[in-house]
Amino acid sequence: MDIEIQPVTQPKARIQDESKLVFGRQFTDRMFVMEYDTGRGWHSARIQPYAPFTLDPAALVLHYAQEIFEGLKAFRRQDGSVALFRPADNIRRFNKSARRLCMPPVDEAFFLKALKELIRFESDWVPHSEGTSLYIRPTMIATEAVLGVKPSDKYLCYIILSPVGAYYKGGFKPVKIWISDHYIRSAPGGTGEVKCGGNYAASLRAAKEASEKGFDQVLWLDAVERKYVEEVGSMNICFLYDDKIVTSPLHGTILNGVTRRSILQLANEMGYTIEERAMSVDELLDGAESGRLKEAFGTGTAAVVSPVGQLTYKDRTVTIADGQMGALTMKLYKALTGIQYGTQPDPHSWIEKI
Ligand SMILES: Cc1ncc(COP(=O)(O)O)c(C=O)c1O
Repeated sequence: MDIEIQPVTQPKARIQDESKLVFGRQFTDRMFVMEYDTGRGWHSARIQPYAPFTLDPAALVLHYAQEIFEGLKAFRRQDGSVALFRPADNIRRFNKSARRLCMPPVDEAFFLKALKELIRFESDWVPHSEGTSLYIRPTMIATEAVLGVKPSDKYLCYIILSPVGAYYKGGFKPVKIWISDHYIRSAPGGTGEVKCGGNYAASLRAAKEASEKGFDQVLWLDAVERKYVEEVGSMNICFLYDDKIVTSPLHGTILNGVTRRSILQLANEMGYTIEERAMSVDELLDGAESGRLKEAFGTGTAAVVSPVGQLTYKDRTVTIADGQMGALTMKLYKALTGIQYGTQPDPHSWIEKI
């Protein structure tokens, strides 16, 4: 499929001071769009000016949430070039999400080509300051105008781009986590291992309550026994426990994070044993009190790693690593961002130049 290139006649004003960039608030001049109709497949691929869509009020996405998305970043490298980090992994996960929600998969090679083409046009939007990046949001929505719970016969797939500031502008601030004993994020057989909007809508209430209680994020326990650690906020979670890295296994209820996968590989190469196993909330809190739990950190595209300084479960609160960022967390952060920004070699070929 060819990609039609439409001109941009009115470029947007840019935020010149990169320290003022706020995540997800400003979007670039262009977006990639393609459409799908049953019987015809994907068609009308184009790079067009960023603009609102017109949607029928009956569009299926607006009623039954048939929607998926992805999140990845382009980085301005030390040599001035622009690169993506493991984009094929995100596109593969996009298709996994599509299949789970009965949506049509995209051609992965074509989608990567379209993504790169869009970023080539928008490369001036990739910020230059340390820690900044261009966030990439591929999305697919069901657009058929019909009421009734069924897979849509029409879809819109698009990619939008947003320049983002450094996540750790004010330094590393370990987060305070509330372990929810009431709300759950995902259950076996559900959609927890894919990236659909409904998962995030369902998480809002717990996040709101956590915030009202003074916490930064929610740690989700498993839905069956309400006992085992799954994820934190919208990140995977890892622990340095007895000098091993412990993290929840990929058993269908947590997202298979690209950052998780990369951090585990780097930690393994640094000599750490990786244990993908169930960690109960009791083991976690007891470990924090006994000193067996040395560090805890979330992993995800937005923050890369996010140190956890405090955990609260019911009326029990524990502090981890004296509420500071642990040495291993810092080492892994530097190793992964070094690869992304080109200050370190990329022995795994994770970087895809634009
Ligand atoms: C629920 C959830 N878990 C984990 C992650 C981390 O995934 P990744 O490292 O691919 O960004 C994300 C972010 O995409 C997420 O939304």
